[in-house]
Amino acid sequence: MTEVKSGKCAVVIVAAGSGQRLGHGVPKARVPLGGEPMLAHTVRGVVKAGIADQICIAIPAGDDELAEICRQLSTSSGAPAGVLWNVVDGGEDRAGSVQAALAVIAGDVTTVLIHDAARPLTPSGVFDRITSALRDGATAVIPALAVVDTIKEVVPAELPGTGAGLEKVSGTPARSRLRAVQTPQGFDVELLRRAHRYAETLQPAEAAQITDDAMLVEALGEDVYVVQGSTHSLKITSPTDLLLAEAMLQGPLRPRWVEG
Ligand code: CTP
Ligand code: MG
Repeated sequence: MTEVKSGKCAVVIVAAGSGQRLGHGVPKARVPLGGEPMLAHTVRGVVKAGIADQICIAIPAGDDELAEICRQLSTSSGAPAGVLWNVVDGGEDRAGSVQAALAVIAGDVTTVLIHDAARPLTPSGVFDRITSALRDGATAVIPALAVVDTIKEVVPAELPGTGAGLEKVSGTPARSRLRAVQTPQGFDVELLRRAHRYAETLQPAEAAQITDDAMLVEALGEDVYVVQGSTHSLKITSPTDLLLAEAMLQGPLRPRWVEG
């Protein structure tokens, strides 16, 4: 059975985080990468992918500097004139920022991609793989990579001799079945709205466990398909990630990279 869907596509860029772990003292989207705010790279990556009919950026409420950066990017990023452009105040948490953006998605949009501003180097190929799976009938699609480290589950524990508090292993899931998940994550817009309505019913402790949009769709019992991500699509979280991204931009490793 083939079900090929068409319709307008919105890309939401969530850029309203504060960047605590990066430790620059300014929101991460404003932190310089290659001499420009990180957000400039992310926005240009979205524009270059050529899949967006609407681009909506969620920024920290009251961040006039980032609002001005977005205003400049609306013309300098190369977005075609027909692309609808919105900047909204983000929420307290990432899900709140997605919800603020969903409120301004145009009525004729059928699919929406949610992308972290903190992934400034995501290649077009990843956007293409997501949108093409959506066209081919998926209603939720995420990019992922096989994990390279062995992953353990742990529980709090005390050392027998001293009672010192640490952790002990409670299990080791088979690595071959584990994936490290990235963005952009793509959804049928109505499914994502339903998923976020569900998110709004969660208790604070449960809501704190929600780290991506796909988790909410999974909770609704809907299928989430997985396409190949990219090592270029790393999330800038800590200072070493920023070092790596700077090196990637300078490009000395480029010939040795194989992912699209
Ligand atoms: N994000 C958001 N709104 C929030 C929190 C996060 O839009 N209230 C966005 C971030 O801007 C980022 C993405 O979600 O693009 C992933 O979040 P993360 O890497 O955790 O970024 P920060 O929350 O900014 O960083 P930290 O957790 O270290 O403070
Ligand atoms: Mg965060």
